Amino acid sequence: MTADSLPTAFDLASRQREISVAEFFLKNRHLLGFDSGAKALLTTVKEAVDNALDACEEAGILPEIRIEVKPIPHADDVFVVVVEDNGPGIVESQLSRIFGKLLYGSKFHKLAQSRGQQGMGISAAGMYAQLTTGKPLHVLSRVAGQTRATELYVSIDTAKNRPEMHKKQQVKWNRRHGTRVEAELQGYYQKGPHSIDMYLNQTAIANPHVTLRFENPNDEKLRFIRSVSELPAPPVSVKPHPHGVELGMLIQMLNNTHCRTLLPFLEQEFSRVGRKTARAIIAQAGNRLSARSYPRHIARAQAQALYHAMQEVPVSAPRTDCLVPIGEKQLEAGLRKELKAEFYTVVTRPAAVYRGNPFQVEVAIAYGRPGGVGLEVAADGHIHKAARQRQAAKEEATDASARLLRFANRVPLLYEPGACAITKAVMQTNWRAYGLRQSKGALPIAPMIIMVHIASVWVPFTSEAKEAVAGYAEILKELKLGLQACGRRLASHLRQTRRLQQEYDKRTHIEKHLPQIGNALQDILQLSDTARDKAMSNLDKSLHRRRKIR
Ligand SMILES: Nc1ncnc2c1ncn2[C@@H]1O[C@H](COP(=O)(O)OP(=O)(O)O)[C@@H](O)[C@H]1O
Ligand SMILES: [Mg+2]
Repeated sequence: MTADSLPTAFDLASRQREISVAEFFLKNRHLLGFDSGAKALLTTVKEAVDNALDACEEAGILPEIRIEVKPIPHADDVFVVVVEDNGPGIVESQLSRIFGKLLYGSKFHKLAQSRGQQGMGISAAGMYAQLTTGKPLHVLSRVAGQTRATELYVSIDTAKNRPEMHKKQQVKWNRRHGTRVEAELQGYYQKGPHSIDMYLNQTAIANPHVTLRFENPNDEKLRFIRSVSELPAPPVSVKPHPHGVELGMLIQMLNNTHCRTLLPFLEQEFSRVGRKTARAIIAQAGNRLSARSYPRHIARAQAQALYHAMQEVPVSAPRTDCLVPIGEKQLEAGLRKELKAEFYTVVTRPAAVYRGNPFQVEVAIAYGRPGGVGLEVAADGHIHKAARQRQAAKEEATDASARLLRFANRVPLLYEPGACAITKAVMQTNWRAYGLRQSKGALPIAPMIIMVHIASVWVPFTSEAKEAVAGYAEILKELKLGLQACGRRLASHLRQTRRLQQEYDKRTHIEKHLPQIGNALQDILQLSDTARDKAMSNLDKSLHRRRKIR
């Protein structure tokens, strides 16, 4: 190649242009959870259901959600997905941007616990649908009090990241309020741990106040009916904590604030900063900053000094009343409804903080299958256990690992377990201390389901697809403490079960030899048959009494 044919800076300049977020995510769709047909179908359902649940809860409505996934006849791997909710609906002027623009939403700027965060869920699903089938999203939404619903067909102009409306009209809809989203996309429907069925099942566990009705491509109708009829308390939104902001965010906040001077800026835009702390931060920052500095005129170097001062000056820990855990009672209700087990235990840890963001961990364990592994104690204290059950227990004592269900802000996480702090915490917990088998650095081996939930105003996901939680030290510590608390309770249950098993074994052994003892006694003492039976019955009773379980 000669030097003449090499591109010049001017040639390169002619090729340099802005890349829209939509174009970026179109090429990097794996970042949003659309890297395979099966995942794309699940992600689409998940984004729409998560939005429906967020909207219903924000509006104080008990969610009733209908989901339908149907194959399009004579089209290979093309499905229509419908998600319909009884939420507050969406006002007409917002509809096109919500569904036709990436990074548009109501949750990003608000530090509050919600399922959505980035404003990139449903519009990304729309973009994927459009890419694979060329069809726009079909939306129907009615706001309470309005006589008609708005019907909209919308797609994304990916080069400009803005909505392209195809048709909009007012129509009749028999729902009083709510939203219905319909997307046609290429995908693959599968069963198993990564299926839509599983996602909905786990959603029902973590959201016992929700009713979900699902019609899957096999024409099966799955129903998950609510087991509690109280909505979770509405989450309070908080301002950022000084220890949680990053420099870029601080510079942006300084540029966008309505406050005219630095002192009220610090007091009003951050949580836990009063007059005294604000003055201390300004004094610590130095750099010619004063209480009366004008936020928009603060230079980068000064912002950096301010940022460091904010990290150094002690500030009280963030408020934690902004978190809404599922709660021990509700979580147990959800577990009992969806998973049959012999023993349940739930621990909700107190709130903690990572990088200035409050978070809270909940751990639950469902152990053993009923009538399978455990023993039953009758009301009179005697141990009853059929040989059949014993056999079943033996058959179940396989080498299967415990199943781990991960949740973040009540949303099941089905992919990327290996990259997730929750998996790491479970593997790093010493389950042998609680009477279970475990290879080093692996999940315990037991007929058991471990459920872990992390609630936060900002869950640190490892990617935009929101599949795995990042391993901040504070988060790992809380996870382990929760797992250990559940482990201890499980260990005590297992000790009790083992004691019962031993008692049972001893008794069976004695019972087996009782008739021989009876015959020997009869011979030695020259007893009549009646006297022998009476002696045996007394002996049996006294053995029962002595081996009674307290
Ligand atoms: N079913 C719905 N009912 C009411 N509002 C909705 C619904 N779906 C989406 N929205 C609104 O649209 C916004 C954008 O949704 P989305 O793209 O999924 O981003 P995110 O959920 O991360 O904010 C939400 O923040 C919410 O305000
Ligand atoms: Mg969303």
